Amino acid sequence: MQPSKIKCIGILTSGGDAPGMNAAIRAVTRSAICHGFSVKGIYRGYEGLINGEIKDFTTENVSNIIQTGGTILRTARSKAFETPEGKQQAYDQMVKHGIDALVVIGGDGSLTGARDFAEMFDVPCVGLPGTIDNDLYGTYSTIGYDTTLNTITQCVDKIRDTAHSHERIFFVEVMGRDAGFLAQNSAIAAGAEAAIIPEYITNSDQLVKFMERGIRKSKKSCIVIVSESPKCGAMHYANRVKKEYPQFDVRVSILGHLQRGGSPSAYDRILASRLGVGAIEAIMQGQRNIMIGIRNDEVVYVPLSAAISREKPISQELITVLDELSI
Ligand code: F6P
Repeated sequence: MQPSKIKCIGILTSGGDAPGMNAAIRAVTRSAICHGFSVKGIYRGYEGLINGEIKDFTTENVSNIIQTGGTILRTARSKAFETPEGKQQAYDQMVKHGIDALVVIGGDGSLTGARDFAEMFDVPCVGLPGTIDNDLYGTYSTIGYDTTLNTITQCVDKIRDTAHSHERIFFVEVMGRDAGFLAQNSAIAAGAEAAIIPEYITNSDQLVKFMERGIRKSKKSCIVIVSESPKCGAMHYANRVKKEYPQFDVRVSILGHLQRGGSPSAYDRILASRLGVGAIEAIMQGQRNIMIGIRNDEVVYVPLSAAISREKPISQELITVLDELSI
């Protein structure tokens, strides 16, 4: 599909919702209309594309949403879209509804879907990084990450009050799937004593390291932020402490889905707005199969395949900052 032939842009959100997705939908819609494209909103992610849950979007559809969490387009994790038959149905719906290019807002699973779809059909796909996990390569931040970091920090501030009063150890479990950005940075922001993150779980026994140096005479309470993990989340570490260090009073707090809700921060609204405008600019330039990211405060284009498959490491400097400041 030549850029000059693109008349209609479809937009969908997919995977876990993230605060700022609505700001991104608004930006893509308004920027597209500004440049003379028509816009179609696709409901319930790829599932809705397969089922033809598609509506014409005007600027009014995206009024009064920049400040809201969740996604007005709804979202889903589609198993059907992972199959060639599902992708064929999705393509047929695009043809039926006259959609020439697709903007996908989501995390790595959603952008993997976009990459595979673009390889099967001649459809320009542009991804926007929309996930609280911040685990996409090539962008400093993903839409929703900053808001969630702030939400976690506010929750931990509250937990600290009771931890201090009762002189307890609290293990606070946060989201992030396989990435420790939320845990590491919320630990720094909330002044926690340690973070246990998936990137380092195999390297050493992080609990022993922390217990040996973390609980000092001057500190009777402490907070450890733990990345979610089916095998070794906060409960796992709390149970170990109860067994191995019975002198401590231990509690667990699992923050769960409250981390994904709420009004997006100013940072996420601005990021989503810039990336949304960037997506339309990229489509007009004839770019395809890329993710729009932010690096050094500039909008950048990242090949979808790199965004989803390259590792985004946690910098050693962040580990050092937390280690040094939690003595
Ligand atoms: O990818 C976003 C995320 O919130 C992860 O941090 C978490 O592991 C997962 O989604 C939870 O997914 P669900 O809401 O489907 O349980």
